[in-house]
Formats: sequence, C-alpha cells, structure tokens
Amino acid sequence: MASTAPPAVDVFTVRTAGVGAGLVATLSTLLTGEELARAARFVRAVDHDTFVIARALVRTTLSAYGPTAPRDWRFETNAHGCPFVVPAQAGVPGVAFNLSHTSGLVALAVTRGRLVGVDVERVDRVLREDVAGRFFAPDEVRDLRALPVDTQARAFFDYWTLKEAYIKARGMGLAIPLADFAFTLAPPAAPAIRFVDGFDDRPERWQFWQAWPTDVHRLALAVTRDDTDHALAVTLTDTSPEALVA
Ligand SMILES: CC(C)(COP(=O)(O)OP(=O)(O)OC[C@H]1O[C@@H](n2cnc3c(N)ncnc32)[C@H](O)[C@@H]1OP(=O)(O)O)[C@@H](O)C(=O)NCCC(=O)NCCS
Repeated sequence: MASTAPPAVDVFTVRTAGVGAGLVATLSTLLTGEELARAARFVRAVDHDTFVIARALVRTTLSAYGPTAPRDWRFETNAHGCPFVVPAQAGVPGVAFNLSHTSGLVALAVTRGRLVGVDVERVDRVLREDVAGRFFAPDEVRDLRALPVDTQARAFFDYWTLKEAYIKARGMGLAIPLADFAFTLAPPAAPAIRFVDGFDDRPERWQFWQAWPTDVHRLALAVTRDDTDHALAVTLTDTSPEALVA
C-alpha cells in the first residue's frame, strides 16, 4: 500500500495590509515583554505592526507542533542574529523555523530536524542600485542579463529570494558572501545551487522551492534534505491575521 509522507516543510503566509489597531493590540498579548519592547522601538507603525503579526504567527503556529502555549515559546539567537527555539523545551524535538517579512506579507517556514530558510520580497519595488551586479555571482549576473529585458526586473527577485533563503537556512546571514554561491534557474526543474571551490557545503544537501503567495510577492525556501530523500513535500498556507487569535 502506498504511504503518504507527511510534509517536510510547512510554509505559512499572512497578508499584513489593512490589519486594524485593535487586532494588532490583541495579537500583542501573545508576545513576551522583550518582544513588546522591541516592537515599541520601531519608528513606523507599519514596521511595528508587521513585527507583532510575525511574532504572533510564529508563536501560534509553533503551538501546533508541540505542547507549548503561544506565549510560552522561548527563543535564543545565534551569533548572526538567527532566532531558534530553545532546544530543551519539553515535547518539541528538533522543531525549526525561519521568518521573513516584506511590505504587505509575512512568511514563516516550519520543519523538524532540518535547516530551513525562507525569504519573501515584493517584486514591484524599484531598486536604486545594481544589486545583482554588485552582489550576485558572475554566472547569475550573466544569466539574468541574458533574459528578455522586460523580464529581468522580476527575475532578479528569483535570485535574490533564493540567495537570501540559503544564507538564512545556514543561519549566517551576510557572513556568507553572496558571490560564493550561484543558482541555476531552468524551470520546470527545481532551482539548483553550486558553490565556488573550497566552499564548505554540498549542493546535494539542499532542496529549493519557490512560490507566488500573491501577485507581487516572490517567496523562496531552502531546506536540507536527507540522503534518501528525493523531493521533500512542501505545503503553503495563507492564514488570515484574525486566525492568529487563539
Ligand atoms: C538579516 C538577514 C538574515 C535577512 O534580512 P532580510 O532579508 O532583510 O529580512 P527578512 O525579513 O527576510 O528576515 C528577517 C528575519 O530573519 C530572521 N533572522 C535574523 N537573522 C537571521 C540569520 N542570521 N539567519 C536566519 N534568519 C535570521 C529573524 O527572524 C528576522 O526577523 P525578526 O527580526 O522579526 O525576528 C540578512 O540576510 C540580511 O541582512 N540581508 C540583507 C538583504 C540584502 O541586502 N540582500 C541582498 C540581495 S541577495
């Protein structure tokens, strides 16, 4: 009998535009004092609200993975600022998450026993500098500039989100030089990564996945695979901010 493998990674998105002050205040009750203090330091209300919604999403979602109430999850950060669940929390073996926010959208990826990174970006923003030329690997710049000119602006975000998802899965952020690894994009094949000589990683260790959660938001996911895995199952769920209220 064929067995159905459980999803390896669950990705959740929340649209943040137009969320009212009352709901933000309710979601704030799920946050710790430290998180509320951080929220209070944002100058722009939109950044405050996005932070609160993102932390509420993390907390309520993780509570489906272990017997811990949303308010009771405890996190630490590594030397590069990557937050992780304090491992000793009872009943939650190896749950791992990564969070991303951009204008209008928050994304959360959750898995067990794997490294995971997620990135979302708005593709309708105008960049003031040549980010690809400055930061991407030479092969990526070449491939991007070989595309029809009118598709390059959107395609840029394919590379950007994948590169961010990878460095976030490694938990190292920009401590990994962005030109030290390059993506090959040849849909419908999954994105493939390769590294400069001497780089401390193996392409076979990774699976990448992309989605359009909205018309203007590009999402990329990076997750480590087992040696026995072929394609890991990924789910994408759009959650309303109201649904985060416990
Ligand atoms: C911090 C960084 C990890 C992601 O930054 P970002 O893409 O601006 O922001 P995102 O919204 O996607 O991710 C931020 C979240 O990632 C998590 N995070 C922070 N540091 C992290 C790290 N080292 N590794 C993984 N996740 C990290 C946090 O949860 C953070 O949200 P929080 O502060 O509300 O908890 C880092 O990669 C960075 O500064 N990137 C700059 C972006 C850039 O210039 N890219 C060039 C084009 S590729």
